[in-house]
Amino acid sequence: MTELLEPRAIGADLARRDGAAKVRGLVAYAVEAPVERPAFAHVVQSTVPRGRVTTIDTAAARAVEGVLAVLTAGDAERLAATSDRELAVLQDAEVDFRGQPVALVVADTSEAARQAAELVRVEYAERPHDSELQVDHPELYAPDQADTARGDVSAAMATAHATVEQTYTTAMQHNNPLEPHATTALWDPGAEVPLTLWDSTQGVHSTRSTIAKVFGLGKEQVRVVCPYVGGGFGSKGRPHANVVLAAMAARALPGRAVRLALTRQQMFFLAGYRSPTIQRMQIAADRTGRLQAIAIDVVAQTSRIKEFVEQAGTPTKMMYAAPHRRTTHRLAALDVPVNSWMRAPGECPGMFGPEVALDELAETLGIDPIDLRVRNEPDVDPETGKPWSSRNLVRCLREGAERFGWADRPPARHRDGEWLVGTGVASSVYPTYRSAQSTAVIRHEAGRYVAEIGAADLGTGTWTTLAQITADALGVPVEDVEVRIGDTRYPVASVAGGSSGMNTWGSAVVEAARAFRDKFGADPDDGDEADAGVDQAAKDSEHAAYAFGAQFAEVRVHADTGELRVPRLYGVFAAGRIINPRMARSQLIGGMTMGLSMALHENSVWDPRIGQVANHDLAEYHVSVNADVGDVQAYWIDEHDPYVNAMGTKGIGEIGITGTAAAVVNAVHRATGIRVRDLPVTLDKVLAGLP
Ligand code: MOS
Repeated sequence: MTELLEPRAIGADLARRDGAAKVRGLVAYAVEAPVERPAFAHVVQSTVPRGRVTTIDTAAARAVEGVLAVLTAGDAERLAATSDRELAVLQDAEVDFRGQPVALVVADTSEAARQAAELVRVEYAERPHDSELQVDHPELYAPDQADTARGDVSAAMATAHATVEQTYTTAMQHNNPLEPHATTALWDPGAEVPLTLWDSTQGVHSTRSTIAKVFGLGKEQVRVVCPYVGGGFGSKGRPHANVVLAAMAARALPGRAVRLALTRQQMFFLAGYRSPTIQRMQIAADRTGRLQAIAIDVVAQTSRIKEFVEQAGTPTKMMYAAPHRRTTHRLAALDVPVNSWMRAPGECPGMFGPEVALDELAETLGIDPIDLRVRNEPDVDPETGKPWSSRNLVRCLREGAERFGWADRPPARHRDGEWLVGTGVASSVYPTYRSAQSTAVIRHEAGRYVAEIGAADLGTGTWTTLAQITADALGVPVEDVEVRIGDTRYPVASVAGGSSGMNTWGSAVVEAARAFRDKFGADPDDGDEADAGVDQAAKDSEHAAYAFGAQFAEVRVHADTGELRVPRLYGVFAAGRIINPRMARSQLIGGMTMGLSMALHENSVWDPRIGQVANHDLAEYHVSVNADVGDVQAYWIDEHDPYVNAMGTKGIGEIGITGTAAAVVNAVHRATGIRVRDLPVTLDKVLAGLP
């Protein structure tokens, strides 16, 4: 148990410190880093899904005016570490997926680089490829993550009063932050720190470690700078091939800075994506709705060159009580681009199947879907037997019901003119990750306090919220605190991932503030400084810690056309203490909107004949836009969790997206009687079943 910080600045509705400069266009993003006379790089991608480059002719490309270099596997530098084959770019002739980098053109202007890239002639010896995920793929395998099992699900299914046994699928989705993946790289061999990367990343320190290893450099030979990020969602949580290529180009042109930005289309090949998932659910219940069994068997894909497990079975381990339970994951290794993190990997798709299945069970039993969830609250974590650090799902459901007007909801298949109207609910959850390694330094400078830590602000508000935490940890007004982040010159900080940023970096600044006060008391001199931090050892392992939430959706379906609208989406969350309501609302509403997008729009349509996303741009890959979004409201309950960290925070970046799509699908069913089990809910899936 920790004594929670006395909140003074914490909880204040402060505007973003970087907001005014951002809207005035005064801050530099990665590709705008202030360098002299930058060169521009453009990636040449493979046009076959699998095979080998047999010849590559760069003469025409080199002849374009302004071209400085054309790198291919034939002449690019040999990397020191090539075990991560996503990052081992231009090292051999093999082609592992369509769109893999096969050359890089560097020129004085981006126009020349792109023109020359078009002129690189590549011939391939193509081999047959396999890029189609199928539930009965002959080579499905079990990744290292252990399956979990307790009791006998099959036996419970055979004898239960009511069962649901259905398969649910979620679509492949691509991260589309506003700012594409981009890097400015400078190799200055004479400098103390020869390699500088201004990179759009969720973690300057983790990017530095990875890139240093790939090039065989010491960490101290690499500096990564990233004060601002135009969105990440996980795709910038680890460096992808583009960062290696940018550094490679810079090393080929010593002293000349090189800018490399992926195009929007290239992001559909090189920036990671969320695997499609196939989720077979089994639920068994007695007549009162108490679950006897819950099981999920997940099939997902991974690229053949780098394993990534979309752990969609994870939330089923802990959401609801049931004596008989099972979760499994099976993967198909395919000739596809490398999949990776996308907002709430695992939990986001993994809260679709189970939360729709529960709605199906509620209907079968004639029990209100909120009551059904409340009846299956586990006293302790069903997976580990640990007590909850705090679990307020029921409060979220009840408060949401109140705010949304659940009790007065329209009857099933309610008709309002040409529109069928329905409402739906689903739970949401996200684990509270704590205390990865991070250190902060606090210094007294010119009468103020400066906190330095190599943390990230993805647009989430770290510049502001970390100042609020530091102020309370020092017991000074927030105006007296300056925060410096986004540079490996500042102490090591964990990556902004798993909604853990504020939990971890906040804990580090609290430790540093304590160390500072212990050392210098309340009246320090200029230049006094102290550093301290947290690591895994600081973690409370006695409790199961999660944020919870309840999502409510109102859906209108046009009776003739199947057009779907979502006029209302309300979420109520129990996510620990909220550092800054303005930033929190933006994260939660953003997550919910992305969940709406998952429900209705986002779908990377895979063409297995050519091994490529067919709709690889924002003209055809639809994300919810302003016209799609109705009244979205995020609320939270006042939760004080003394076990998670000194701030009492649980992380809010991802919880908003979990459960949202299930709430929408459950509302579509209530409106139309049609049960869609395959995301996204496009109108063709409801049209045939409309009255
Ligand atoms: Mo997030 S997918 O943990 O960056």
